[in-house]
Amino acid sequence: MAGGFVSQTPGVRNYNYKLTPKVFITCFIGAFGGLIFGYDLGISGGVTQMEPFLEEFFPAVHKKMKSAHENEYCRFDSQLLTLFTSSLYVAALISSLFASTITRVFGRKWSMFLGGFTFFVGSAFNGFAQNIAMLLIGRILLGFGVGFANQSVPVYLSEMAPPNLRGAFNNGFQVAIIFGIVVATIINYFTAQLEGNIGWRISLGLACVPAMMIMIGALVLPDTPNSLIERGFTEEAKKMLQSIRGTSEVDEEFQDLIDASEESKQVKHPWKNIMLPRYRPQLIMTCFIPFFQQLTGINVITFYAPVLFQTLGFGSKASLLSAMVTGIIELLCTFVSVFTVDRFGRRVLFLQGGIQMLISQIAIGVMIGVKYGTVGTGNIGKSEANLIVALICIYVAGFAWSWGPLGWLVPSEISPLEIRSAAQAINVAVNMFFTFLVAQLFLTMLCHMKFGLFFFFAVFVFIMTIFIYLMLPETKNVPIEEMNRVWKAHWFWGRFIPDEAVGVSAAEMQQKSV
Ligand code: BGC
Repeated sequence: MAGGFVSQTPGVRNYNYKLTPKVFITCFIGAFGGLIFGYDLGISGGVTQMEPFLEEFFPAVHKKMKSAHENEYCRFDSQLLTLFTSSLYVAALISSLFASTITRVFGRKWSMFLGGFTFFVGSAFNGFAQNIAMLLIGRILLGFGVGFANQSVPVYLSEMAPPNLRGAFNNGFQVAIIFGIVVATIINYFTAQLEGNIGWRISLGLACVPAMMIMIGALVLPDTPNSLIERGFTEEAKKMLQSIRGTSEVDEEFQDLIDASEESKQVKHPWKNIMLPRYRPQLIMTCFIPFFQQLTGINVITFYAPVLFQTLGFGSKASLLSAMVTGIIELLCTFVSVFTVDRFGRRVLFLQGGIQMLISQIAIGVMIGVKYGTVGTGNIGKSEANLIVALICIYVAGFAWSWGPLGWLVPSEISPLEIRSAAQAINVAVNMFFTFLVAQLFLTMLCHMKFGLFFFFAVFVFIMTIFIYLMLPETKNVPIEEMNRVWKAHWFWGRFIPDEAVGVSAAEMQQKSV
């Protein structure tokens, strides 16, 4: 396939490449990095519903759950239980900051390896847990693993991919996340039916499988040309670029990588530099995109779909089944993004998905409000409950082709090399912080805000859709080391980007294109 594309940004270059099996296989294996995050996201909600698990570690919650309940909204409210789920995200937040140095100094693959390794040890602690301490240590190790993987994998994929298929390749990370969630939900469905403690032990212990996949994957993966150049392996970088692009004529792209690396060498302290005015657009985006991604409210569904469905009056088996259905829908709909993100662009998906989520959230809020009111008592009939599940699926589909994959893609592709690792660490840290907050506060919020919770998230979805419309330039098809030109051309961000940052002058650009 030839690498021609029509760019909307003036001066953005056009590189030679073929879609090689090597780049495909490499990105396929690299995307495994999303599996550990997904497995964990999917497993916790189900495990915290298993009675033997609650009896063993959270007897008070178990008692409350069994006792007669007058108020559906407050049935599962327990800070300790949510701490089990959310402690992981605090650990991930901390490790992503360390991961940024490892990713930059030793290469992307070693962060991935470390991620797999710590996740592996964490899964053993959890699977064999005898007490709360083992359970929490396990969670924290899992969190370290997720932080390392989420910091390195999206950058790895974005750097390996040919520029005009970067969106599709990077979305492999989200596909792996959702695949992990779905597999975990299916495992929970079966283990929940086992007697005694064996069920939750299998669910938590099986986290070792995706962990091993990443560890082995990272060992066989090559590093990206960008990272090789950054670390001084210029010859190897050129060979790597030629082999992943399937042509020896990579001079132009290679030169851009060298230039980017030269420029990045001027920057001694990525953490200090990202605060400079010229990196303001990247700083704002890497803070706001993950913040907004979590404020879509998606993890209310991811973590608590079974709880939510039980609140709606479903039995516990039916709840797990419905959670499985929403997971499968999310997986299928993520492919819509894979196949369209490089054609229609990031903005179209963000805007369409945002509007779809907004409408469905309002409808869910209204329906639950009408049925349960503010008191939290009442009965939801079967057909109404099914309608709510359908609305949840529409909401999940909207997320699946917009904020889900793009929340990882866009931050990984908008920063120049000199601040890329730091920016991605900020992205992960902010994402994890708000994942933690939502996980920690959801049950309490549901208990106090009741159906208003859905309107709460809807307000944020409205704001983020406007934000994208006004502030995010289109980045499809733009080579990653050429991204400064996109910011320079933006109506608002342009003022922050100095002329030197776009490399060549306008006159030079014209000469080159002749
Ligand atoms: C988000 C997670 C979410 C997952 C599945 C990811 O992109 O970062 O917080 O749980 O998608 O919906």
